[in-house]
Amino acid sequence: MTLKKYALVGTGGRAEFFYGAIAKTFRETSALVAFCDINRTRMNYANQLLKEKYDYEPVPAYGADEFDKMIAETKPDTVIVTSIDRTHHTYIIRAMELGCDVVSEKPMTVDERKCQEILDAIEKTGRKLRVTFNYRYAPHNTKIRELIAGGVIGEVNSVHFEWLLNTKHGADYFRRWHRDKRNSGGLLVHKSTHHFDLVNFWLGTHPETVYAMGGLRFYGRENAERRGETRFYQRSHGSEASRNDPFALSLEDNPHLKALYLDAEHEDGYQRDQSVFGDGISIEDTLGVMVRYRNQAILTYSLNAYLPWEGFHVVFNGSKGRIEARVAERSYVNSGGNKADEGALKEKRLTVHPMFAAPYEVHVEEKAGGHGGGDPVMLNDLFGAPEPDPFNRAASHIDGAVSILTGIAGNKSMQTGLPVEIKSLVSFG
Ligand SMILES: NC(=O)c1ccc[n+]([C@@H]2O[C@H](COP(=O)([O-])OP(=O)(O)OC[C@H]3O[C@@H](n4cnc5c(N)ncnc54)[C@H](O)[C@@H]3O)[C@@H](O)[C@H]2O)c1
Repeated sequence: MTLKKYALVGTGGRAEFFYGAIAKTFRETSALVAFCDINRTRMNYANQLLKEKYDYEPVPAYGADEFDKMIAETKPDTVIVTSIDRTHHTYIIRAMELGCDVVSEKPMTVDERKCQEILDAIEKTGRKLRVTFNYRYAPHNTKIRELIAGGVIGEVNSVHFEWLLNTKHGADYFRRWHRDKRNSGGLLVHKSTHHFDLVNFWLGTHPETVYAMGGLRFYGRENAERRGETRFYQRSHGSEASRNDPFALSLEDNPHLKALYLDAEHEDGYQRDQSVFGDGISIEDTLGVMVRYRNQAILTYSLNAYLPWEGFHVVFNGSKGRIEARVAERSYVNSGGNKADEGALKEKRLTVHPMFAAPYEVHVEEKAGGHGGGDPVMLNDLFGAPEPDPFNRAASHIDGAVSILTGIAGNKSMQTGLPVEIKSLVSFG
């Protein structure tokens, strides 16, 4: 059997999820052929992990300016893009121009101009792009899709969806590159792309009109000052003031975070442990969004990033009843521990309330692995030999685009104070 060849761009925290899977579980079908990043120290560390943790031969490492050279020399079939969000489009487009298919981490990109460039490149090159929406594969999320598609609550007219990010994982977005909206599109794109994709997936429809409000109300220096705080620091490393801050992250106390970031920062100046109460945060931590869908359903959505627990609460109101779901996730810091703990479940409850009968709980089998057991299923879908999927969970570039466009429209709506039509943002050709 010929192995499918993969090159990976962006060897930070998320990358190991993919290269580790190729090196460990999918050796029979897949081969890793190269790494590419702006940071040599991080690429060296990824190669060290390949060798020591996975007993896999280290792969050639190319600088970001050597991307074309990497493709020419190592001839991958597919490029996996796990670099920071604002750079995704560059690698997605160039990989396709050079004849490769692409697997991109979410969000596909961060604004409508870059999104259009990606759509145009797909049209021009005919290459394939998949966006890795792992939440679709979590068994409870697949079950909700199954219940709605099976007509259990009839036609869904409205969805009320609240996502909670806590003081551990939620705070982490405000320490890292994500805190600059130019890098991530803000949480409405970076994080909510998962949630808006779930709504599209659950309802089997696409968004039409979006209206949003939001702001930075908790993190950031100004908010802390308003609450009476007087001691500030720029980053945790080497800071006395950070010792009393429950939001501080110590890189030197975690060997993996130290190797990935602290030991690598002399190359690019990137600081992974900035104070969440510092200046220069341009993303929101408090968001409210309304969306109308093509099937006329409406969504009310909220996201807050400083809450005591993490997870979501969603209800679907239909012509034959109501579905309620509550899922609490375990706390984690990105790349700060075991990958299988990322998005792992603490509690879940899925209840159907028929219009004229007693409510009942729906049992969903718990699976091992990150994101509620969704991660291993998605990896098999990507690198293994997947069975045909009745739920059609493999997300295409259209799914990737539609899910970010809700957040991109939300960002525009926050700027203008007006509702935004999705069709005014990009053309799907
Ligand atoms: N689906 C999920 O559950 C999930 C979880 C975590 C992260 N992610 C996604 O993975 C991606 C990476 O996130 P992360 O947490 O690993 O961040 P990270 O900061 O740990 O890693 C980002 C990497 O990109 C590299 N990079 C920066 N600019 C670059 C450039 N111009 N060219 C090439 N490489 C460049 C950095 O040097 C770094 O190695 C993001 O898009 C994020 O949304 C997805």
